[in-house]
Amino acid sequence: MSYQDVYNGWKDNPEAFWMQAADAIDWNTPPSKALFDKGDHMCEWFSDAKVNTCWNAVDRHVEAGRGEQTAIIHDSPITHSKREISYVELRNRVASLAGALRAKGVEKGDRVIIYMPMIPEALEAMLACARLGAIHSVVFGGFAANELAVRIDDAKPKAIIAASCGLEPGRVVHYKPLLDGAIDLATHKPDFCVIFQREQEVAQLIEGRDFNWHGFQYGVEPAECVPVEGNHPAYILYTSGTTGQPKGVVRHTAGHLVALNWTMKNVFNVDPGDVFWAASDVGWVVGHSYITYAPLIHGNTTIVFEGKPVGTPDAGTFWRVISEHKVKTFFTAPTAFRAVKREDPQGEFVKKYDMSCMEQVFLAGERADPDTIIWAQDQLQKPIIDHWWQTELGYPAICNPVGIELLPVKLGSPSLPMPGYDMKVLDDGGNELPPGELGAIVSKLPLPPGTLPTLWNAEDRFKKSYLTNFPGYYETGDAGMIDEDGYIYIMARTDDVINVAGHRLSTGGMEEVLAGHPDVAECAVIGVADQLKGQMPVGFLCLNAGADRDHNEVVKEVVKLVREKIGPVAAFKLAIVVDRLPKTRSGKILRGTMVSIADGTEWKMPATIDDPVILDEITEALQSLGYAKS
Ligand code: COA
Ligand code: AMP
Repeated sequence: MSYQDVYNGWKDNPEAFWMQAADAIDWNTPPSKALFDKGDHMCEWFSDAKVNTCWNAVDRHVEAGRGEQTAIIHDSPITHSKREISYVELRNRVASLAGALRAKGVEKGDRVIIYMPMIPEALEAMLACARLGAIHSVVFGGFAANELAVRIDDAKPKAIIAASCGLEPGRVVHYKPLLDGAIDLATHKPDFCVIFQREQEVAQLIEGRDFNWHGFQYGVEPAECVPVEGNHPAYILYTSGTTGQPKGVVRHTAGHLVALNWTMKNVFNVDPGDVFWAASDVGWVVGHSYITYAPLIHGNTTIVFEGKPVGTPDAGTFWRVISEHKVKTFFTAPTAFRAVKREDPQGEFVKKYDMSCMEQVFLAGERADPDTIIWAQDQLQKPIIDHWWQTELGYPAICNPVGIELLPVKLGSPSLPMPGYDMKVLDDGGNELPPGELGAIVSKLPLPPGTLPTLWNAEDRFKKSYLTNFPGYYETGDAGMIDEDGYIYIMARTDDVINVAGHRLSTGGMEEVLAGHPDVAECAVIGVADQLKGQMPVGFLCLNAGADRDHNEVVKEVVKLVREKIGPVAAFKLAIVVDRLPKTRSGKILRGTMVSIADGTEWKMPATIDDPVILDEITEALQSLGYAKS
């Protein structure tokens, strides 16, 4: 079947399409139908089914005789260690952990926060929650205590599972003090914490509250899989929005299973038993979907990689892992390839490894610039597939579905919509735009299974953020266009979300931190183009009248403050003090114009600008930071 046949098949009868995809899942009670329309554009999938995610991701493969197959390969060039866990071992480990959590009172529907680095135990913690029907919320290790506290107060977890430390090149990330700090800051307190002690740093446990990962499993009864309703939340994953308050994206159990499983063959072109590697982190949606759940649900071998594209130890790490573990499909972010390309433009490391096992490479998380794609094609001689999706959607929405058919590649476009997505480009008034014209990218409702049905405890915010501006459509928050052949081009965000090294961040959230500095009267943060990371945040600070401070000192303090409040992942290193910020007459800061000036792209003087002279001052400030080159 061609892509067009599959896509049309879905469009003609979505209900039949998803019910057929559901056949690949082991149900305790099969769904009577796929779509459950709750009215007011609120939808759920397979709600009347009963199912367990952990059963589908682990136990069923053991039952089917694949217990000895490797489920997880841990490869850590940082600790110089490699380890393999078979499906049967994984089943036993997860059942034991789940049993211990249950013995401490964790039940179906309870929330559990997971704050762990790239070790197999992070996946085991996720699966143990799934086994019990507990709702996990994984928090990325690069976030600071304050961000963790915000998530604790929103999710109100019964337990927190953490590791003693994470390992960044040349630096130990002390998770335990961050965890303790977050619990101090949060209003909600978990009943207990479970700490996985890594040999690189053994953390001090708080008597009565903290339990040792191994110790608390001693002598407990392993837990069986608890069947849950199809619309039971599998997890909450917080992602950046327009303010410092992150959005808790909810994922329902059944749609997640059905959709992820469908993508493994149709999009990523792997069969059960193949090795699939997503070089991301379990703290991001790519890690949830394509390190933990989809490969395991589909019976693949997944790789948990604790390292970086460069420096651990060199720009050949990716190629070593691919050849050593026989990776068939590799998934990474364009920024990772840019980092490798910068160190090894001629691909000297590529030549050292036999990568005949690899059939295709997928890139996502940010715009894939044509230079990077061409470089990767030249070096690897394999299809390099750009594909687009978001935390909210959970799996590829615009893609070149290699498992169905390799479509002609158009550089700069992630290609065509997947079944489930009927995408349009609309103007501000909600009118559909003709091919080639730039507008808001939307998808006709209902969204397919596995996408967000709502935000955790924030249904109004869900409706306001995604469903209100364009009635009948899901608003992606991205701007772009569609060409004559239906290929979609993603150009920019329509809100103040920026993408730094494939990490989604809120400039609004950074502004809230800067505004908290006692000398800052007003501020703006913009994302400027960066050759390596795609975008980098730059802060502009106006100081309070009478703040007679050395500007460099204030800049140092705000940089430190963002690192402390949001975390190192914000990569906030550049800020400058200016007298005034450019605004419209109604007082809106002209951030878009500032970005264009910084990037040296064409811009028009906004008709509503209050004082055009300020833009000259901003240009000078940006030039002093190395931007705004004419
Ligand atoms: N825990 C703690 N700190 C972390 C972290 C984690 N899990 N991940 C990143 N950080 C820290 C880094 O150590 C760095 O700290 P520093 O300011 O002390 O140097 C900071 O956050 C910024 O990290 P990053 O923006 O990633 O920059 P980098 O220079 O360390 O690495 C790349 C640059 C391009 C190599 C790296 O960003 C990369 O591999 N990106 C791919 C991202 C990816 O896979 N994203 C997933 C989406 S698909
Ligand atoms: P996240 O929720 O972290 O996955 O980030 C989603 C956002 O990243 C999208 O809304 C886009 O702005 C951007 N993005 C992801 N993939 C791509 C891609 N292939 N091309 C362009 N932008 C992308």
